[in-house]
Amino acid sequence: MDKYYVTTPIYYINDIPHVGHAYTTVSADILTRYYKQKLGNDNVLFLTGTDEHGTKVAAAAKEEGKEPKEYADSIVPKFEDAWKILNIDYDHFFRTTDIRHEKIVQEVLQKIYDKGLIEEGIYEGLYCVGCEKFLTESDLVNGKCPLHPNKKPIHQKEKNYFFKLSKYEGELIKDFESDNVNILPESRKKEILGKLKEGLKDIAISREEVSWGIPIPWDKKQTIYVWVEALFNYYTATQFLNHKQKFWPADLHLIGKDILWFHTVIWCALLKAADLPLPKTIFAHGFFSINGQKMSKSLGNVISPKELVDKFGADATRYLLESQFPFGEDGDFSIEKLIEGYNAYLANGLGNLISRVAKLCETARFVQSSNEKSGHVIVEQESFDKAMEEFRFNDALSIVWEKISKLDKYINEEKPWELLKLPEGSKKLGSIEDVLAHAVSQIQEIGILLKPFMPETSKKIIDQFEKPQIASSSPLFPRIV
Ligand code: MSP
Repeated sequence: MDKYYVTTPIYYINDIPHVGHAYTTVSADILTRYYKQKLGNDNVLFLTGTDEHGTKVAAAAKEEGKEPKEYADSIVPKFEDAWKILNIDYDHFFRTTDIRHEKIVQEVLQKIYDKGLIEEGIYEGLYCVGCEKFLTESDLVNGKCPLHPNKKPIHQKEKNYFFKLSKYEGELIKDFESDNVNILPESRKKEILGKLKEGLKDIAISREEVSWGIPIPWDKKQTIYVWVEALFNYYTATQFLNHKQKFWPADLHLIGKDILWFHTVIWCALLKAADLPLPKTIFAHGFFSINGQKMSKSLGNVISPKELVDKFGADATRYLLESQFPFGEDGDFSIEKLIEGYNAYLANGLGNLISRVAKLCETARFVQSSNEKSGHVIVEQESFDKAMEEFRFNDALSIVWEKISKLDKYINEEKPWELLKLPEGSKKLGSIEDVLAHAVSQIQEIGILLKPFMPETSKKIIDQFEKPQIASSSPLFPRIV
């Protein structure tokens, strides 16, 4: 692999950022930092942003008495701020209202139209504004969209342009079965293949009644269906940003399981129609609930990234989000559980070890020799890399925390504080230095491994422990009660 391009979904701006969005974005940032270390900054591209057109956003703007673009401009900084406080190092913040995007989407769509793959038709059926999605009978649960049971789907009949999705059924089955496009986790691939084999219908890709969108180039009375233009963000960015063409196709589209169909079947078919290469991997992570309940505005249990960062700090929030449960699975969390995890693994585990070793070094006036590092290999590196490559972030963290426990145990057994108390002449030659040198080198390794997950903490640890004379400092993670 010589380049790595990772994307998050572009988030709807009808609402402010919540911890669900943060989960995907932090995960993408962790991969970005990890691959930047391996491939160099210039060979990694990380894109995130906002999805700003469509009925849902237009309605949110209207509610606030604003024009859609004015409304969008007021919400976008909230996403930018959320990513800033979480230390998200994206390369570009994408907005679908960027005219460079609008132009390229129109060109690509025109190309698909010219190839005869888009035709006029009448759409009659249901539409869920919450999902910005046309619904089929089989999507409904008790006549409602299962994801938005509080909002009645709208009945629609309008002239639309239809994309010949059905044409791609066989090709997509081959692409997904052969892992030409790798859908992960495996269970998600099965789910998509199962649904795909039930058959594909052509889909409406324009809207007659929605003015807040990009006009269809050959029929300006219609706008491009919001999902179609949004999906193209991943591609258009590589075309309008300077020197980023080499990044297409994406190496990884990171998404939540809710939008897997769009990112696999619809997106890959559109790319095929436009003669563009397909993404390499699409990973759908699970959803988390809060105290056993779906996170939702109406239940009032939505947690904002700011709430977590204010309480725990950026690095601890990043750690807590990634360590709770396996990345591809659903999970549940609560503030209480996060506090427990923070105190056990950060305040007591990592933080305590760092203070303890720094204090010992200071008391023993330990002086670190400078040339110990050459040719040094971290024993856990291989299993850590494998966990990262397989998106097993919680396993990667467990590897680091096992190392922390091992070092704690080593110090408890070696009891360097007792060695310190021995009278000068009776000290076993070099023993305290050996114990501390080992502890310090292990801590430096822990600092290195933590870099993608906890960049600030990693830097603090490395800065503190690379000095010849190590001094104690204030606790990294003060206990929370
Ligand atoms: N705008 C579309 C995506 C277009 S991408 C071409 C969209 N936006 S969204 O704002 O609804 O964001 C959905 C994404 O937010 C999910 O795919 C997931 O990444 C994240 N999450 C939203 N709620 C979540 C949880 N409760 N748990 C985990 N992730 C969640 O869909």
